[in-house]
Parts: sequence; C-alpha cells; structure tokens
Amino acid sequence: MTHHIAVLAGDYIGPEIMASALAVLQHAAAKYDFDYETTAYPFGGAAIDACGEPLPQATIDGAKAADAILLAAIGGPKWDAAPKRPEAGLLAIRQALQLYANIRPTKVSDAQIDASPIKPEIVAGTDFVIARELTSGAYFGKPRELAADHAIDTMYYSQAEVERIMNTGFQLAMQRKQHVTIVDKSNVLATSKFWRATAERIAKRFPKVSVDYRYIDATTMAIMTAPTAFDVIITANLFGDILSDEAAQITGSIGTIPSMSAGASGPNLYEPIHGSAPDIAGKGIANPIAMIKSVAMMAQYSFQANAMAQAIEAACDAVIAAGITTPDLGGSATNQDVTDAIIARI
Ligand code: NAD
Ligand code: IPM
Ligand code: MN
Repeated sequence: MTHHIAVLAGDYIGPEIMASALAVLQHAAAKYDFDYETTAYPFGGAAIDACGEPLPQATIDGAKAADAILLAAIGGPKWDAAPKRPEAGLLAIRQALQLYANIRPTKVSDAQIDASPIKPEIVAGTDFVIARELTSGAYFGKPRELAADHAIDTMYYSQAEVERIMNTGFQLAMQRKQHVTIVDKSNVLATSKFWRATAERIAKRFPKVSVDYRYIDATTMAIMTAPTAFDVIITANLFGDILSDEAAQITGSIGTIPSMSAGASGPNLYEPIHGSAPDIAGKGIANPIAMIKSVAMMAQYSFQANAMAQAIEAACDAVIAAGITTPDLGGSATNQDVTDAIIARI
C-alpha cells in the first residue's frame, strides 16, 4: 500500500532541512520496504509570494487527503509587515485539521550531554514529553482586537477542549513512566483553574498515573534545575509553546527536536518545533535532525513502521555521538555532512 505524504517545505531553512529529511526517507524506505509518495504544496511565505495566501485551498485539500503531513518551517522578516503573515497559515492548518494535541519530546541522549548548557549530573537521563494543547487558548480565543489605544486577546477553553488534551497526555503517560505534570497559572487565571479542576477529574480514570500540579513560572525553573522530574507535561497552547523552546535548549539545540500534532481523526502533522531560522538560512549549516526525527515520528505513529523509525532515530543519535554536528551543537559540519552521515548509518 502506498502511503501518501504531503510535504510543506515553507521558508528560509525550511526547504534546506526538508531536502535532508526527504533524502533520508528515500534511503530508509528502500531499505525497509516502505512504499510512499510525496506531494509538495506551497505554504507560508512561499505561498504568499506565489498566490497571496499563506495557506492556499489546494494546500488544505492536499493535506487533508494525505495520510500524513511533513512540515519544515515558515515565516521570516520578509513577511513580518505583510497584511497576511505566514504564521497565520500555520495556525489555520492546525485548526482546519483540528490538530489539538502537539507532542514535543525532550530527550537528552548520552551523546548529547556535553552539548547541554546544564551540568551533566543534572541533565543526564532527561526524558519527558510536553503535550501542548494546539487549537485553542490564547491563540484562537475571541474577541481579538488590535486598536490604536488598546489591544485584546482572549484565553478561552471549553470543557471538551481541555478533556481531550488531558486524555491524550494521560494515555501517553500510561505508555511511559506513568507520571503527569499539569502546568498552569491557576493562582491567577480562570482558564487555569478550570484546567486544573478538569485534570483532577480525568486523573481519577488513570489511577496508575501519579500527578503533580505546578505553576508555569516555577516550572520554567524546574526544567533547568531538575529536568528528570518530568515524564509527561500537559499544558495550554501558549505555555506549551514557551516551555518547549526552553526544554529544547537543555538538550543543546532546538535543531534536534521534532513534534507530532494529532487530532481525533485525519492525518497527523509532523514538524520540528523550531522556526525558519532566517539568521542561518542559505549558509548550509541548519541542523536537519529535528526534521529528520520528525520523519521518524511519522513512520512510527502514522505508519507503524517501527523498525524504520528506530533506524532513523538511532542513526541521528550515532551521528551526534560521532561528533558530526552543525554549529548549533558545537561542530563544524554542514547540513549535507550530517545528512550524508545519517544516511550512511541506516
Ligand atoms: P527560530 O526557531 O527560527 O530560531 C531561533 C534560534 O534557533 C535562531 O538562532 C536559529 O538560528 C536557531 N535554530 C532554529 N532552528 C535551527 C536549526 N534547525 N539548526 C540550527 N539552528 C537553528 O525562531 P525565531 O528566530 O524566533 O523565528 C524565525 C521565524 O520562524 C519567525 O517568523 C517565526 O514566526 C517563525 N517560526 C515558525 C515556526 C514553524 O514554522 N513551526 C516555529 C517557530 C517560529
Ligand atoms: C511553534 C511556533 C508557532 C506557535 C508560531 C510560528 C505561530 O512558535 O510552532 O512553536 O507559536 O505555535
Ligand atoms: Mn514556538
């Protein structure tokens, strides 16, 4: 059976890391007998340039019809003042496909300990995931207004929206270390009080899972001082965005962290958590590992091609262990060197 993959390369380093990921996929697929075809669609700033829209209808239709979606990164200074920004396309595709659960892993392999800015004895063994709510909260609440003398954003959550991300997070914990941390600001925000009360109710359905509750501000410290205390963090859209970049940093580079965005039905979307890195675009030094590990996540979760997924993951870790790294991880290799080295190890 042929697996149909929609490819959205996007902007700045997007096409560079997507080319790496597709080269790795092509090699791994031949080795593991994985039958697939890809279709590329315009998205983000590239789509604004081509047709005035960050998320053209043909891209939504193609994404919906695919079995999985690979996305690199969008946005950048070229469109920061444009009437429609690339970021609006990203939010729109997440909403159009109702991809409410964004899973962002933070794992520090032994090979990566030296790249971490945190002391080895603190960071060793770090292995947690952030389950970030992705289609509601401050990103989507109405009213939203930007006037000359004031501005409004609304942080809204319905019961169903909170329950479904809680269920995702608790189910994930059941397959892992059976520990959940609910991260909120329930000492201040109504949505966070609601979030915490919902968590307490859902937790009763998962008696094997231990739960702790932390405030977002204190959690940003704990990620630095005691990262091994976490297994699954369940948090709201905005908090999860911020926390996942911080968590990425303790692994040494945001350039290694993939993600999966899933809904109740339809294709999942896989993308690095980082952006389009305009500061390094065109130099051939973007770390392709987050994008390549996104391919591994796709193989595992959308296609149950577990052997292929593990081979890709292991090759990425082996290349880091061998010191073949781009400058963000302290090395002097190019994107192409890293890609070739990964392919050679699959
Ligand atoms: P960024 O994640 O693009 O970059 C932050 C820093 O990390 C930069 O120094 C960059 O060089 C570095 N970095 C990121 N990815 C890297 C990689 N693969 N290899 C090596 N270094 C890497 O964040 P930003 O600079 O705040 O945003 C740039 C643009 O990307 C903005 O337009 C933003 O809105 C957009 N953005 C898009 C996504 C997405 O497409 N999902 C995510 C985040 C930001
Ligand atoms: C991410 C990005 C996006 C977000 C932006 C570009 C809209 O930062 O995927 O983490 O905030 O969700
Ligand atoms: Mn982000």
